[in-house]
Amino acid sequence: MLEKQDSDTTSNTSSSATSLGTKVVHAGVNKAQQGSPFMQGPTFASTFHLSGEVDNDHHQYARFHNPTWDALEQGLGELEQGKAIIFPSGMAAGAAVMTALVEAGDTILLQSDGYYATRAYAETFLQKFGVTILAVPTLEIPNQDFSKIKLAFIETPSNPLLDVINIQELAEKIHAAGCLLAIDNTTLTPLGQQPLLLGADISMCSDTKALNGHSDVVFGHVATQREDLFDAMQLWRKLSGNIPGPMETWLVHRGLASLDMRLERMVNNAQVVAEYLEKHSKVKMIRYPGLKSDPSHEVACQQMHHFGFIISFDLGEKENADQFLQNAQMIFEATSFGGMHTMAERRARWGTDDVSAGLIRLSIGCERVGDLLLDIEQALS
Ligand SMILES: Cc1ncc(COP(=O)(O)O)c(C=O)c1O
Repeated sequence: MLEKQDSDTTSNTSSSATSLGTKVVHAGVNKAQQGSPFMQGPTFASTFHLSGEVDNDHHQYARFHNPTWDALEQGLGELEQGKAIIFPSGMAAGAAVMTALVEAGDTILLQSDGYYATRAYAETFLQKFGVTILAVPTLEIPNQDFSKIKLAFIETPSNPLLDVINIQELAEKIHAAGCLLAIDNTTLTPLGQQPLLLGADISMCSDTKALNGHSDVVFGHVATQREDLFDAMQLWRKLSGNIPGPMETWLVHRGLASLDMRLERMVNNAQVVAEYLEKHSKVKMIRYPGLKSDPSHEVACQQMHHFGFIISFDLGEKENADQFLQNAQMIFEATSFGGMHTMAERRARWGTDDVSAGLIRLSIGCERVGDLLLDIEQALS
């Protein structure tokens, strides 16, 4: 996709594909075999033939493993440059990280301005078993004392205000203190940022968003290069039964193949729309890491392969934001991001984020940018 990505993320871990943009098309696809289907369909099976002693080289029971998971996990592992485990949602993936890797008496560091459900899960279900939750604003995280923290679980760019943390610098500090670093990479996907290569122990993603990209599946994954962490999170999935269905898994794998192509359109569109909004008199504040004036721009240039497709902008009053959303013809009002269709919402309507009443989170889709600009122009006027 973007030139920077094609040159910067070249690797040769698994296939002869040279850039991530090419790898994503081939990720987890079966080797060519005479007469076999070009694309494998989902395997609907709860159990597998298993005679004699337990045979760990073959499928046994579908809560442990199944062929449809194997193909997607293989593909995601290639992209993340680690070993991947898939889950039925981004929250299940995040819960695996937080539940499998900490014990009573440990402290987890989270963002106070990150995705609220991650905090809510930890505060509701982990705190009562003796885990301490420390929630800190994104930009204050690098200055924390990590010596008493077991796991830092950080979203960068943060959602919805798009602050960016330098992952490499944070990983060095965190590892020096003996703490683990997990990065929620949902807003960028492995094509936009590679947390494991930047030093994080775990990369986590809600694949409900851009990775699947078609707004029809809820899904998630984690990836790591550490066998001990992999084993712990995989065991949590097996014993808690937090497993994705084969149909959803197959749909995500199908969506994955077009990720680079979709992102190219979305990210290029987002840059044009952000530059337009930045100059508009009705826009009181705008955040997009691709804008040179944005506080995240410098770090984004260092570690991100693209600037993403989310723009947050403030229209001042609640009424102005509601009017914009009502006027827009092409922009769907919905609470998600990363899909083919441009969507937006007034984030404060949930009461879960500390954002102003007029803040709109806009997720730019794959429409033609000229049409989007016309719609935005008329909705603002
Ligand atoms: C940054 C981030 N992480 C995690 C999640 C949770 O993902 P899911 O809705 O797939 O459970 C979301 C959902 O919006 C998110 O925005």
